[in-house]
Amino acid sequence: MKKVIIATALLSVSLFGAQATQFSMSKADRAMYQEMLENNPADIFVEEGGEFFDELIGEKDFAAFLGVSEKDLPKYIAGFPRYVKKIDMVAGLDQVMQAILAQKNEKPIKLKSKKMFSMLAYVKSLANEEKINLDVNADEHIKAAYALGKKVYETPRGGRGLACLSCHSQATVGLALRTQILPNLGAVNAGGTWPAYRMTKSSLRTLQRRFQGCMKNALLAVIPIGSPEMVALEVYVTNMAKGKEIAIPGLKR
Ligand code: HEC
Repeated sequence: MKKVIIATALLSVSLFGAQATQFSMSKADRAMYQEMLENNPADIFVEEGGEFFDELIGEKDFAAFLGVSEKDLPKYIAGFPRYVKKIDMVAGLDQVMQAILAQKNEKPIKLKSKKMFSMLAYVKSLANEEKINLDVNADEHIKAAYALGKKVYETPRGGRGLACLSCHSQATVGLALRTQILPNLGAVNAGGTWPAYRMTKSSLRTLQRRFQGCMKNALLAVIPIGSPEMVALEVYVTNMAKGKEIAIPGLKR
């Protein structure tokens, strides 16, 4: 583990220092990236998240809360965010965990905490190798969330009048912004590869946390994790990768 942490630090420094991109990684950095792909530093957080999850909730109660069998749980998880009847809202897996903890009279865990990030990574990893199967027409709630997510994605905000779509659209894909490529969020399977280890932050990050990073960079007011707008954005972006396989934890620049 120690060796990997040192490697991560070196990699971040060299990426920033040289303003390099994935394309212009040095041979040594590329070798490290390869090694991290095989031995993702976030594996340990996922494992830790599993320990918290088993202690506080467990698969049996998690499945029961959602009204599915344990056997069907992975497929069901691959359809999140979705409308959850018991809490009458379109929710992420982290919010389902919060609701179960409340029901059990356990101490709440903040959505934006390392503990919740690792638990979320673990729960989503239960669906590894399943295909993302959101159904954005399943009910009126998810339909509304999808529409809201599309609106948030496409509406320009902030001092520079940028929208997510300004940088992440078919038209701009492949263009570079200050040496970074602008990814097509469907093609890079953002919905199936977050929570991920972010090498430039040396930590495990979730999809909504990643959205916040872009909001900050592009001078858009940062939307809180777990808010209806943020969950809607996750619905919209995850749906772009529908049919792609879930592979948690991802590994990102
Ligand atoms: C000014 C341009 C710009 C805007 C606006 C922007 N992004 Fe980004 N985004 C980027 C760049 C560049 C990257 C890739 C950075 C890298 O390689 O580390 C990125 C990466 C991402 C990723 C990670 C993709 C992956 O590899 O899985 C997600 C998710 C994302 N953006 C979502 C959003 C959302 C949601 C919004 C709107 C709130 C947004 N972005 C607005 C430029 C932008």
